[in-house]
Amino acid sequence: MTSDATGRSGLDHGKASLARVYNYYLRGKDWSSLDEETAQAVIRSAPDVPEAARENFRFAGRAAAWAVAEHQIRQVVDIGVGIVNDLPLPSVETCVLEVDPGATVLAFDNDEVVLAHARALRRGYGGVLRGDVTDLDGIFKHPDAVGLIDMAEPLVVILAAVLHFVPDAAAVMVGLRERLAPGSVVVLSHVTSTQTSERRVAGMTKAYDDKAVSPIFFRSQEEIRAPADGWDIVAPPGLVDVQRWSPDGTYVGPLYDTVRVLGMAAVLPGHQQEHVRAPGGAR
Ligand SMILES: C[S@@+](CC[C@H](N)C(=O)[O-])C[C@H]1O[C@@H](n2cnc3c(N)ncnc32)[C@H](O)[C@@H]1O
Repeated sequence: MTSDATGRSGLDHGKASLARVYNYYLRGKDWSSLDEETAQAVIRSAPDVPEAARENFRFAGRAAAWAVAEHQIRQVVDIGVGIVNDLPLPSVETCVLEVDPGATVLAFDNDEVVLAHARALRRGYGGVLRGDVTDLDGIFKHPDAVGLIDMAEPLVVILAAVLHFVPDAAAVMVGLRERLAPGSVVVLSHVTSTQTSERRVAGMTKAYDDKAVSPIFFRSQEEIRAPADGWDIVAPPGLVDVQRWSPDGTYVGPLYDTVRVLGMAAVLPGHQQEHVRAPGGAR
């Protein structure tokens, strides 16, 4: 079976796919019995995981739409998009196109399951491209992305619930800082160990270690914030539970006892006036 640059593939025999386990949490239909077993092992440790996952999904769309509207950015790259088409929730692409129907939204994932799913459906994210967040040149210089995105202009980059599968999350933020135009916005969410019982974190970590194609890395709130040094974290709301993230404070979901997912938007400073799109959509 094909595998990505890390050697992992969602179709590895005997291992649960990250995308399908997440699809199970979201009440999608695209998962196997092994994915279900893995998800249930996680849920036994932290029963709020499905609700937190749904709030994370909503956060990604809400924050992406906010970034596009507020910063007048017309190109969005969603890395680690997952399986979005069979869900009763608005995807990043849907939310972005609602605020700017002319925006370009490109999606990447390193899981063959996600790519196969997108190919089969040929709608929504019909064009999910193979890409690994640890290989940013493979993403931004992907032959099918060149010509669709202009790296000299700001981008919105979505990293929703993907960096907690990466051993060196800080390196990804450094790589983005080196490649993106000033004024670009990163929307990021990540599971945290802060204010979560050690027993629950250990249980969730073990479930992924035992059954999934990748381990999961729970990081402290400070370990999630620190890689955004050199970026302007949008505050309010700052780095908060995803269900509490909205710059105008109007979205206030319930907090969960058993699991926390933190989210933030961060702007690469040095934005020049010429990057700002004129009102009405013309550049
Ligand atoms: C938990 S799902 C999140 C999906 C979506 N971003 C969301 O938040 O609703 C994580 C996704 O990231 C993908 N992923 C994991 N590691 C990745 C990597 N190194 N590069 C690209 N995608 C990755 C998985 O295949 C999966 O589809």
